[in-house]
Amino acid sequence: MSEGLIILGATSKIAQEVGRVAARHGRELLLVARSVERAEAVAGDLRARGASKVTVIAADLADISTHFSLWEQIEADMPDAAEVLLAYGSLSDQARADNDIDYTLSELNTNFTSAASLLMHAAEQLEARKKGVLAVITSVAGDRARRSNYVYGTAKGALTLFAQGLRARLFASGVRVLTIKPGPVDTPMIAHMKKGLLTATPQAVAAAIYRDMENGSADVIYVPGYWWLIMAIIKAIPEKVAKKLKF
Ligand SMILES: NC(=O)c1ccc[n+]([C@@H]2O[C@H](COP(=O)([O-])OP(=O)(O)OC[C@H]3O[C@@H](n4cnc5c(N)ncnc54)[C@H](OP(=O)(O)O)[C@@H]3O)[C@@H](O)[C@H]2O)c1
Repeated sequence: MSEGLIILGATSKIAQEVGRVAARHGRELLLVARSVERAEAVAGDLRARGASKVTVIAADLADISTHFSLWEQIEADMPDAAEVLLAYGSLSDQARADNDIDYTLSELNTNFTSAASLLMHAAEQLEARKKGVLAVITSVAGDRARRSNYVYGTAKGALTLFAQGLRARLFASGVRVLTIKPGPVDTPMIAHMKKGLLTATPQAVAAAIYRDMENGSADVIYVPGYWWLIMAIIKAIPEKVAKKLKF
């Protein structure tokens, strides 16, 4: 697929690496990110790596009140976009969320409600063209709500369900909705956490994402793929056991 790629949350480390793979293929990219300085730095890197054209739009994606005008701008800049990658997110501080309702609601908005709003705008654009890929980065955390991160997990789980519904809606129009569930990836998002054998590199995760966006036909992918098995086991733990576990 050689047409344009829109990246929502383009300064995310995973998104930057997806952008680098796309740039090597000479793609045209539209980067949407909240920091114009960092987005311009990413754009410069992607131009140097071969992107045919890179445009930057600055936007706080959690601010739903701007989404209609934001998408007008996106559509004007890239009317023939073939793909949209929704990559932004915030790893919620569960301890803080436990005692701060406003913070919890704001995190749910960043990771789910605002994302759902943007997916609806993207869906409308791709549906009109009757083709394209809408790729949504959720998380394995959305497969089961756990004591240690259920605010983030709930939002990602809701996003996974929303993408599933959109997939069914868009199927007839030829638009593919790809749900991407990464396990832990070594990016700034988990900089404060201990890394282990199961922590993937952003380069490997991005390569898998781009490959599947371009050539795959799956509806849902776990990245790396072995997370499917790990999450199948975690999901199988009975609730009366899971609620007692400190995980
Ligand atoms: N890393 C992991 O272990 C992991 C695992 C599973 C899923 N994921 C998901 O993968 C995606 C990419 O994350 P990452 O690992 O690449 O982490 P990252 O480098 O920390 O990227 C997160 C990005 O989200 C952006 N963002 C947050 N709130 C935003 C807002 N209101 N408006 C615009 N942008 C906003 C951040 O922008 P700023 O640069 O301005 O802060 C940052 O670019 C996220 O959806 C994350 O939930 C990550």
